[in-house]
Amino acid sequence: SRAQARAVGVVTYAAMEGNNTDLDPAMLQTKKVVVQRVVDAIRAAFGSEIDPNPMVTPATKEEFGDFQCNAAMGLAKSLKKKPRDVATAIVEKLDIADLCVTPPEIAGPGFINLKLTDEYVKAKMKHALQDKERLGIAKRDPAQRIIVDFSSPNIAKEMHVGHLRSTIIGDCLCRILEFLGHDVLRLNHVGDWGTQFGMLILYLREVAPEALVDGSDLDLGDLVVFYKKAKARFDEDPEFQESARKEVVKLQAGDEESLRGWKTLCNQSRIEFNRVYDILDVKLEERGESFYNPFLKQVVTDLQEKQLAVENEGAQCVFLEGFTSRDGSTQPLLVQKSDGGYMYSTTDLAAIRHRTHVEKATRVLYVTDVGQSTHFEQVFQVARRAEFYPPSVSLEHVPFGLVQGEDGKKFKTRSGDTVRLRDLLDEAVVRCKADYTRRMEEEGRAETSEYVEEVSKVVGIAAVKYADLKNNRVSNYRFSYDKMLTLTGNTAPYMLYAYARIQGIYRKGGIDITSRVTSLDLKLDKPEEMSLVRLCLRFDQILEVLETDLKPNFLCEYMYEVASKFNAFYENCSVLNAESERVMESRLAICDLTARTLALSFSLLGIKTLERL
Ligand code: ARG
Repeated sequence: SRAQARAVGVVTYAAMEGNNTDLDPAMLQTKKVVVQRVVDAIRAAFGSEIDPNPMVTPATKEEFGDFQCNAAMGLAKSLKKKPRDVATAIVEKLDIADLCVTPPEIAGPGFINLKLTDEYVKAKMKHALQDKERLGIAKRDPAQRIIVDFSSPNIAKEMHVGHLRSTIIGDCLCRILEFLGHDVLRLNHVGDWGTQFGMLILYLREVAPEALVDGSDLDLGDLVVFYKKAKARFDEDPEFQESARKEVVKLQAGDEESLRGWKTLCNQSRIEFNRVYDILDVKLEERGESFYNPFLKQVVTDLQEKQLAVENEGAQCVFLEGFTSRDGSTQPLLVQKSDGGYMYSTTDLAAIRHRTHVEKATRVLYVTDVGQSTHFEQVFQVARRAEFYPPSVSLEHVPFGLVQGEDGKKFKTRSGDTVRLRDLLDEAVVRCKADYTRRMEEEGRAETSEYVEEVSKVVGIAAVKYADLKNNRVSNYRFSYDKMLTLTGNTAPYMLYAYARIQGIYRKGGIDITSRVTSLDLKLDKPEEMSLVRLCLRFDQILEVLETDLKPNFLCEYMYEVASKFNAFYENCSVLNAESERVMESRLAICDLTARTLALSFSLLGIKTLERL
């Protein structure tokens, strides 16, 4: 079966003794190897016709080892055998001594507990330490073309906390998928088109006519105020309403003046959006709703041809499967209004076609609040029935919950206004600065004002991001500066301090582990050492879960666990005063591995780190 393993591309590695520990790169992908060996064993035990569902998952508890294999539970039924007997038969054929302790323990009714050998763990650790950037984590092959549609604020409207969540979560997901080697296109589906522009451009004509002649360097001030004024004007004057409608038609027809006004408005908003993206260190490609405008007509025509869109009181709509109104009638999705105007959903349908056919994406993620779940379900359904995308493509709505105030009510400023994003971020930085300055005074430390600024910026923004990401994204969460800035518990400041401290310990050792890792003769005898190392080396499996579940809180929980295990290690194992040089070096290597694991986690969350706090 070793020969079999080789035949399927799992290369075994040389006997590992002393310093000769070296893993074949294929062996680094621990789970993949374990799965393959289990599959081989199932086939060897029950014949090659059987469906060898290996059911290998990371162990849920440390005492269960590193992996759990539940294959026997599944197979017992179809084989009409006792799960325990099936497990025994699998174990008998399992050829895994080169990476797991053998024979594996069979627990409960028939679970197989797999524990990596200390030798394997040490060899993998050395690999991880040599690969500074990736910690030995392989890129996906083949890579997938993935589009992430996130942030997506609306022109001339408030960029609100919902957009903040979308920006933070979306960026984090992009970073993870990019790290895994995927070809990611980050798209900002800005709301830059629609009937509201008639009103806005017309109002611009009234208050700043020069914008329509040459609007390039015009300052309209706060666009949200501008929007409110335009809306008030629109609401009070029927004549204005009529002209606004005409303005839309002009814009749609490509009238130069209207277009210039539209561009002026977009540019103004963009400046504000970009400020927020700069503060958050988020990069995005803007491809707003207007981009899909030329394709909308075709969408409706095709829906009609496929007999999906039907006329209903002059409008075009598609009757949906599985969506019924209260009176029991089938609910329609409107794709064109009776006045000829198109809908938010029409644009999304056009975008699906473009993204899958032109951009060739095979996975498209939409990061918006849960309030849009129905919208996406409906749009995806229509796109599927109309065959607007190949069946192999996966369209996924990635919903998130609301941001609430500390009292659980709507998130607002003290004066009751909606919170401006930039103010919110500034406030976090200001509070951080106050905290840091006070702590330095207490500790009698002095830092340059530049450094204080830098720390406040990094920690303040980290606090906002981390507080968001560490929550299960689908639940609502309460925004609290006090909570996100405390130094205890699973917060950004705590984690950043933990990271800086570990770095500090490693630096004090004065040994560059990376440069001599090959000659390192690791001695990891204490349970706290092994437990921490094993956890750090599980990073690849955490990422595997994230890749499908898209839940950053899982990564935050992992980091917190790593930090906690580090504390236990540090309490029980002295590093710089270790009993021998070999033990000291091994422990420094553990510090290095832990720090790198945390550093990589932070970078995937989009959080900057500091070496000293
Ligand atoms: N602009 C929308 C909003 O603010 C979000 C757009 C989400 N993306 C999409 N393809 N519909 O609610």
